[in-house]
Amino acid sequence: MSKKTVSDVDPSVLAGRSVLVRADLNVPLDNGEVADDQRIRASVPTLRLLSDAGARVILLSHLGRPKGAPDPAYSLAPVARYLAGLLGRPVRFVPVPAGPEAESAVAEMKDGDVVLLENTRFLPGDTKNDGELAATWAKLGDLFVNDAFGTAHRAHASTAGLAEAMKALGGEAVAGLLLAKELRFLGDALADPERPFVAILGGAKISGKIEVIDALLPRVDRLLVGGAMANTFFRALGLETGASLVEEDRIQVAKETLERAGDRLILPVDCVVAADIVEGSATRVVERSAVQAGDRIADIGPTTRAMFGREVAGARTIVWNGPMGVFEVDLFAEGTVALAEAVAAACDGGATAVVGGGDSAAAARRAGVADRITHISTGGGASLEFLAGDELPGVAALTERS
Ligand code: 3PG
Repeated sequence: MSKKTVSDVDPSVLAGRSVLVRADLNVPLDNGEVADDQRIRASVPTLRLLSDAGARVILLSHLGRPKGAPDPAYSLAPVARYLAGLLGRPVRFVPVPAGPEAESAVAEMKDGDVVLLENTRFLPGDTKNDGELAATWAKLGDLFVNDAFGTAHRAHASTAGLAEAMKALGGEAVAGLLLAKELRFLGDALADPERPFVAILGGAKISGKIEVIDALLPRVDRLLVGGAMANTFFRALGLETGASLVEEDRIQVAKETLERAGDRLILPVDCVVAADIVEGSATRVVERSAVQAGDRIADIGPTTRAMFGREVAGARTIVWNGPMGVFEVDLFAEGTVALAEAVAAACDGGATAVVGGGDSAAAARRAGVADRITHISTGGGASLEFLAGDELPGVAALTERS
């Protein structure tokens, strides 16, 4: 990587330094408790490295999409408590993201302390990449560590803006351990994949994914497409999709993509359909050409599961983003779970797999195979933008190594 990372910083100069860390602690909460801790866990190595070295760690994150004003539903307070448990040391929560209260909390810090400021998006300037707000944060320390891979595709004041502001003040902006690891896994998979290289895309929409398909097609040996995004391709083939989710305005684009892709892009050949996508619905397995007017396509069928499974079993590099069906409803989870199992089995056999997107990561955990997969990314949108070949603003703004 051309950017400096926290590993390039001499640990002996960290003691007593105030270091700003932007992490992506945007985790789902359930009744005010952390419902999925993957992102919090993933942020621990960088925080521990800095705190162990005696740095004073000022942690920033967003949570959810509050409307630029305080909203208790999106408070990071539960995350501070959870993080303290994982770190095994206190995490002082400051109930404001910036301003005099934050400044005095920082002034009271001792070496090795960790402070978490309230949700950066409680201030309208964060998502607007407000330069003044970024400078306010930059002045709290003299090193910025961006470890928020999940938010690296956003040019916000607490990500790219803070990096720029820190550099303008003569400090450095470096990648954290997680950000560097994510970029290494995704970058290696794309730059020099061991072949066969199989990519699997799923999820509801093709809108944001056409660019990803275009960028991946020249690189991969096979591109497997499932989930509701396959429906739009079915329509491009002139097939009936019943009452299924289809992006009508993307059918023409899907047609052009299919023409370019030739036999490298593989669509499901059968599907699980139901009249309603709820537990307890009556389901049928049908060939993709036999979908009826009232049907909703909710999962890939058994023939497709076997076909995708064979492709994955033969792969040496796998990139997977997006579920194969409505996997949050048990009845329609089989295709996604089977795929997660196939990916894990390929990893057992020595393949490298990078899984991105909250849903695919959740599916891997639900199938009980997450720890057998080479790398589960903490980024959904960010990993897709990276796969599409886009420069991530949160990375672009970091200090160059040379
Ligand atoms: C995510 O969950 O993808 C990141 O935390 C970014 O969140 P956002 O889409 O609200 O910017």
